[in-house]
Amino acid sequence: MPAAGLGTRFLPTTKAVPKELLPVVDTPGIEHVAAEAAEAGASRLVIVTSPGKEAVADYFAPQPELEATLAERGKDALLAKVRRAPALLAVETATQAEALGLGHAVGCAEPNLRPEDEAVAVLLPDDLVLPTGVLARMAQVRAEKGGTVLCAFDIPKEQISAYGVFDVEDTGDEDVKKVNGMVEKPPADQAPSTYAAAGRYLLDRAIFDALKRITPGAGGELQLTDAIALLITEGHPVHVVVHRGGRHDLGNPGGFLRAAVDFALDDPDYGPSLLEWLRARISR
Ligand code: UTP
Repeated sequence: MPAAGLGTRFLPTTKAVPKELLPVVDTPGIEHVAAEAAEAGASRLVIVTSPGKEAVADYFAPQPELEATLAERGKDALLAKVRRAPALLAVETATQAEALGLGHAVGCAEPNLRPEDEAVAVLLPDDLVLPTGVLARMAQVRAEKGGTVLCAFDIPKEQISAYGVFDVEDTGDEDVKKVNGMVEKPPADQAPSTYAAAGRYLLDRAIFDALKRITPGAGGELQLTDAIALLITEGHPVHVVVHRGGRHDLGNPGGFLRAAVDFALDDPDYGPSLLEWLRARISR
């Protein structure tokens, strides 16, 4: 999980608090995404952090003193919440000294791979893909077709220009498409499809070599999509799994608020009174 970005859309908070730790109700977005990875069978998590964002990895460390205090006080439900993140996955870190882009951040994790690791799953911790389960489907597609598998959402055409859009062809399975290319934020009438990229990638190890051969793209950053595009031009198979579900972009305050309200409405403690308050607030 790359978590070394500057989080500029969340300034001023991100001067001191990493956006990956902002709570969706009471649980940081990155814990939700780590739980998704664990559910898909992952056992190791490499968090790419930067100097000053150590709190992101610290969040996954056990807190024996706090746990003892909660146990003494009989706060079992809280104890379970506190113990959940450290128990999900074995966490290790890689460092991205400077925020040079998502592609660069992924490249920083290469030394963490073992010789036998043939692929790596990259999950963006500020992107909630719901319901969970798409990673397992992506792994299945990689087992069948090899190469690299990405996740796509079918977006209404009028909104497509806000996204990275796939140029695809059918495979016979309605939810699996072969990718021939990618366009960043095209005008709606020039978009090659309505399939937009989401923050889940199952990348063949060849990505690390491709990342070394690309040059900075949009915003002067090393873009992961440029490295994937390079692999496509070299004949590396790339497919997308079309996820027919929901998504929350936690990377900006508007998307984050929707996620918080969505999760809070489902929460037995907070949901009913929030709904009542929202109804009254909206009718005012
Ligand atoms: P974002 O583009 O959403 O994050 O990258 P950002 O750059 O921190 O946010 P803004 O645009 O300034 O508001 C998606 C994920 O990739 C990580 C981010 O931490 C985030 O989790 N990332 C991004 C890196 O690790 N390094 C980078 O250089 C860029």
